[in-house]
Amino acid sequence: MANNTKGRRDFMGMALGGFTALGGIGALYAMKRTWDPLPSVKAAGFTTLNMDDYKEGELVVEKWRGKPIFVLKQSADTIKKLKAEKPDDLKRLIKIGDGHYTVCVGLCTHLGCIPGFRPEKQDFLCACHGGLYDITAEVTKAPPPRGLDIPPYKIDGTKLVLGETGPEYEKMLADGITMPV
Ligand code: FES
Repeated sequence: MANNTKGRRDFMGMALGGFTALGGIGALYAMKRTWDPLPSVKAAGFTTLNMDDYKEGELVVEKWRGKPIFVLKQSADTIKKLKAEKPDDLKRLIKIGDGHYTVCVGLCTHLGCIPGFRPEKQDFLCACHGGLYDITAEVTKAPPPRGLDIPPYKIDGTKLVLGETGPEYEKMLADGITMPV
């Protein structure tokens, strides 16, 4: 009799344990569903820029995945000057149609402050510790260890899709022009 009672208790314990485990799995599944981004949130990981909208020499700050993105269309004069003085920096520019663009994450590669564009000096100054970047956002004065990072991008006609990886961006990575963001 005692054995039977014990046996029943063991069975009840196992059954309850099973229900608890199942409940736990259900709860975990529900939590995972909550943590997984919705399809629309995933789609929001891309930012499409219409490059015809930008004017030469005017900095526009866009947003991609919560980060500020500097977009600066370069003038023909700037391109001429770069070709003569800093031909390597031209590799940092994105060419779409006839336009050349600086497109980069607007966060200092030192400690993440937002550098300010100085049109009169044609550079970006990070006021936090005096870091300087030229017009292509290449670093010209420490402490920043490198130029501003270029976000992954894909050229689609006259549009630029941030968050996608096209061959031009892959080449920049391979050439060490930018770091993966
Ligand atoms: S955070 Fe920009 S120079 Fe330090």
